[in-house]
Amino acid sequence: MCGIVGYIGNKKSAPILVEGLKKLEYRGYDSSGVALLTDKKIEIIKAEGKLKNLVEVLANYTSAQNSSHIGIGHIRWATHGVPNELNAHPHMSNSERIAIVHNGIIENYKELKISLEKQGHKFYSQTDTETIVHLIAQEKKSAKDLKSAVQNALKKIQGAYALCVISLDEPDKIIVARKNAPLLIGIGEGENFIASDIPAIIEHTKKAVYLEDDEFAIVKNDHYEIYDVLSGTKIEKTPEILPWEPIALSKNGYKHFMLKEIHEQPDVIRKNLFNRLVAIDRPIILNEVKLSPENLKNLERIQIIACGTSMHAALVGKYIIEEYTGIPVDVEASSEYIYRNTITNAKTLVIGVSQSGETADTITAIRQAKAKGSHILIITNRADSTMARDADSLICVDAGIEVSVAATKSYTAQLMSFYLLMLYIAETKGCIKTEEAAKIKEQMLQLPQKLEEVLSHKEKIKECARIFANSKDFIFIARGINFPVALEGALKLKEISYINATGYSAGELKHGPIAMLDETMPVLAILMKGRVYDKILSNAEESKARHARLIALTSSTDENLKSIFEIIINVPEINEILSPVITTVPLQLLAYYIAEFLGKDVDQPRNLAKSVTVE
Ligand code: AGP
Repeated sequence: MCGIVGYIGNKKSAPILVEGLKKLEYRGYDSSGVALLTDKKIEIIKAEGKLKNLVEVLANYTSAQNSSHIGIGHIRWATHGVPNELNAHPHMSNSERIAIVHNGIIENYKELKISLEKQGHKFYSQTDTETIVHLIAQEKKSAKDLKSAVQNALKKIQGAYALCVISLDEPDKIIVARKNAPLLIGIGEGENFIASDIPAIIEHTKKAVYLEDDEFAIVKNDHYEIYDVLSGTKIEKTPEILPWEPIALSKNGYKHFMLKEIHEQPDVIRKNLFNRLVAIDRPIILNEVKLSPENLKNLERIQIIACGTSMHAALVGKYIIEEYTGIPVDVEASSEYIYRNTITNAKTLVIGVSQSGETADTITAIRQAKAKGSHILIITNRADSTMARDADSLICVDAGIEVSVAATKSYTAQLMSFYLLMLYIAETKGCIKTEEAAKIKEQMLQLPQKLEEVLSHKEKIKECARIFANSKDFIFIARGINFPVALEGALKLKEISYINATGYSAGELKHGPIAMLDETMPVLAILMKGRVYDKILSNAEESKARHARLIALTSSTDENLKSIFEIIINVPEINEILSPVITTVPLQLLAYYIAEFLGKDVDQPRNLAKSVTVE
């Protein structure tokens, strides 16, 4: 996590850095800071909390702002050291002649710190990052220039980093480096930009080079040179044209991005079906899947790797792929997948699911699977991401930029990818009857309209939010294909309202969690008509018997439900396998309205970041 930016050119660097950081706020908002290189010194300006705090402090530094044309900036998601001003980046060498910003984690920082302290370096923060700047300063004592000092330092650090380094002694350059954390150099006319992600630079240039792992670069205002860290060999790279237009991010009249993004979901579904589901009697078109029909037919298993909300979409994927293709599917959290001996081979299709395409655990996991010969299919919202670049097959979910930290529309778009993929595999293998596929497709085409119906009847959801906003805990129960939705509903609520919410398989309640039920506990049951309806209803009755306060999210209009449930949120009927699309949205709204009622920071909840680029 964390976001970094850099500027070198003839313009004032501070406004460019601040604007860039604004676009990277999704990567963290614990603190921010800039280092402005002037003729006389490196001016470091930092502030705890959101970027607006830095902007306020910066106003006191007009002289540095007016005279600096080289600078680096940082927005932090704390890993080592509490989120305060002291731990905010940039960090400086004791001589105050070198400053750095860093995204990533230095794993061997403790050993390095001990040795650097012995050599006289004084540390001021609790961060791992500060080690790097002292290490560079130490190397500088014997190296011929800053480039060699940085290169030598990089050889000694272990872990992940995207780095920008500036020095008062060589004020014509920024040195940047990358390992397991994204970094690109935006190429301008007589000026260059550095950023963790495209939005930070796209207003200035569409031309960029991506740094790969173990590369570092010298960036001056009129050119750049890239080198391999280990060998020192110069690397030639042709700049790419970024697949982006500058976009003004607007809430379109909604109070929060999250609410806007929730309402965009019908259109997101339409976009994802366009040109892929062309008619209910025609096979799904999914040219993105590069696995040959022969290899697809011979697949022995599928593994899906993801984190958080993306993993919940993956669990729905598992359910439908197993149901209709007969291929066994495992879903695993990327962070678990990477530290064990996974049984993966060329007959395993490995699917990585990630909104950002930059989640460190998922990147590591798919690379691990790739090394074992598996075909890697990536489902992501970012066609320009690290995962997209690593993919053998790439399904871009086309949800549009998602600003709110809590994922909503990207999840729905991921679900659509799984429905399309499931049908594509089943049709290629010939294991689904044409009539059955047609029935599913017909209902898929109805999804946008049904969601619009959900979105235009929010009264019950608001009422539910008002009644239960002050609950300490919240339980969501479901079974079958809606079990992942119970998990997702709980995650959404936790993320933005900080209420202790948990999703359970309804059948598992009686194996332990039922002990927690009493008259203060809200239990929301996802009760869609289909094969487990009666079972969940019984589980809800069991909860009622323990005095829990029952809420139904249901497609049923059965009047008898009123005797069990305090609140009934009705949703349209839909083929059970597609129901997660319909059931998730009211839960997103419920989380939203509860958080809003509690006055929480909906779009930027505490402790979180949109893109989790550290393991
Ligand atoms: C979703 O609301 C969360 N912010 C989080 O769980 C997220 O889904 C997770 O970090 C995975 O991110 P990715 O999809 O970008 O890989």
